[in-house]
Amino acid sequence: MASGHVLEARIGVSEFPVFIGPGLIGRMGELWTPRADGGAALVVHDEAVGGIADRVAEGLREAGQRVETVPVASGESSKSLSEVERLTRVAARARIRRRDAVVAVGGGVLGDLAGFLAASYQRGIGLVHVPTTLLAMVDSAIGGKTGVDLPEGKNYVGAIWQPRLVVMDTETLESLPQRQLSCGFAEVVKYGLLESPELFERIDAWPDPLPGPREELIDLIRDCVLHKLRVVSEDEFETGLRASLNLGHTVGHGIEAAGGYDRYQHGEAISLGLLAALRIAERMTGLDPVWRARTRAVLARHRLPVTLDPTLSTEAILDAMGRDKKADAGALNMVLIGAPGDIRLRQNPPMEMVVQAIEELHP
Ligand code: GLY
Repeated sequence: MASGHVLEARIGVSEFPVFIGPGLIGRMGELWTPRADGGAALVVHDEAVGGIADRVAEGLREAGQRVETVPVASGESSKSLSEVERLTRVAARARIRRRDAVVAVGGGVLGDLAGFLAASYQRGIGLVHVPTTLLAMVDSAIGGKTGVDLPEGKNYVGAIWQPRLVVMDTETLESLPQRQLSCGFAEVVKYGLLESPELFERIDAWPDPLPGPREELIDLIRDCVLHKLRVVSEDEFETGLRASLNLGHTVGHGIEAAGGYDRYQHGEAISLGLLAALRIAERMTGLDPVWRARTRAVLARHRLPVTLDPTLSTEAILDAMGRDKKADAGALNMVLIGAPGDIRLRQNPPMEMVVQAIEELHP
């Protein structure tokens, strides 16, 4: 490829390529043809990226596929069982069969929903991820987590289902709203903390505004994806190491839920959750406070929240953390670091430290 990367992912029994680079949407047919099993594809897309989905569909049609497209309303409320029912019936009416594929075009919500459609329709059919947000590229399109929410909790129904192909066209990021780019950047900062001081340094030096310089961005996405692929190929079903990808998510999910999934978008809640996790790490692992100061500065520079809305009480956040699916059998799982790249998984940190870390987020 002139500019870009292709990574060969191996996760459990699944092997699939991940293409990262500009202009890949225009090559969809060429990329999918060698991997297609059946002759049809259902392109499920976020309504906000209809133009991109049309180009994906056009490429697949030119490659001889029968293609149906179906839009999904933007926003978390689409991650529901009723939406899965609607889409499975669209798929059935479109005569999508076991050897055909669902092509998911959109961000994290869309990928989780369409991924679960692929995992459950006719007991599982092919899946192609075409993530169009930074968050979906570095996180949700990789690793196979799919699912929908229940009123009782986020991601309560789902499956691990690996795609057959992932296509990350970095040109789609150029028209993404700043707020969404910032949300994805919170996950990028997470990778810097998990991977190494060197990756953190590059992220710390990232210019404003996002998405930043083209070639460097492609390399940055590759390095985040490589980190996640390495972790998930070691622990696909999250029995250990994969939980480290939840750095910042224990408190972050609590903040997101306490805000009714409305006050903060996911990446914004993770920004605050990262700072809380680093504060707890200072007390539990002796993390040098310089890392939290630098993390705070880089998050703030990219317009992510670093202080908590005072209307969200510590009690409401703790309560929501207890209801989180990842709060395993009453235990609070916390990902900490001793330094960037030095990951420590801890259960049940002293509650007083968690409370202090949340309270210190208040301005
Ligand atoms: N987003 C964390 C994971 O995929 O495990």
